[in-house]
Amino acid sequence: MSLPENINKDNLPKHLAIIMDGNGRWAKQKGMLRAFGHESGTKSVRAVVESCAKLGIENLTLYAFSTENWNRPKLEVEALMKLLISSLKGELKTLAKNDIRLNSIGNLDSLPASVKKELLDVIEKTKDNKRMTLTLALSYGSREEIMRAVRNISDKVKNNIISITDIDESIINQHLYTHDLPDVDLVIRTSGEHRISNFLLWQIAYAEFYFTDVLWPDFREKDLYDAIISYQKRERRFGKTSEQIK
Ligand code: FPP
Repeated sequence: MSLPENINKDNLPKHLAIIMDGNGRWAKQKGMLRAFGHESGTKSVRAVVESCAKLGIENLTLYAFSTENWNRPKLEVEALMKLLISSLKGELKTLAKNDIRLNSIGNLDSLPASVKKELLDVIEKTKDNKRMTLTLALSYGSREEIMRAVRNISDKVKNNIISITDIDESIINQHLYTHDLPDVDLVIRTSGEHRISNFLLWQIAYAEFYFTDVLWPDFREKDLYDAIISYQKRERRFGKTSEQIK
């Protein structure tokens, strides 16, 4: 699909974050197991990653597994972990070809050793790629991330490395998993749900939101373009008045 004329390449979100939702419902509609929905969801991941790179989006973050997802049935968690390993193994070439750096946020120590190993391997092999940073949120929860930051900052205060008055937004940013990423400009959530589900709570302070009824396994390039076009029609005021922006 060629780029729609109404997309302005000079006004792209610098950081796009996606809550990929609806895999289970998609599979159920087809009388299939939930794991089949997740497997089909990887096709959308591939399509969206390639489209974002082609478009010129510099940062794409995908919510692949939340801290709360550990509470799903054991079989589903195992299927997701297996899928992650096979996707990481299979996509290394595509990442290299498209000059994409893989990054991750979340509590990696809680992942099975085999997933962590594969993930760190792809992160290392793609670390010098420049075109786009693809961040996978894995065993990620925003409250856990903030709690961890508070603990680490407190520890530095206690050991006189920083003082309480040094703590500002920048210090907090530096202690989040996302320390090397810009704030999120646009959040897309699929499947008709209108929730944030513990995703990047600090980083979305001024993000725009785009909700679509499309289930994640059906989400393709055209749906991404629709979201970007909607984003580009909005006036982002960051607390200022419309007149001040113009
Ligand atoms: C939400 O759908 C989706 C997930 C919890 C997992 C997302 C994972 C993938 C798309 C596959 C692997 C990802 C990568 C990055 C290779 P749901 O299960 O909550 O669907 P439902 O709300 O319809 O039940």
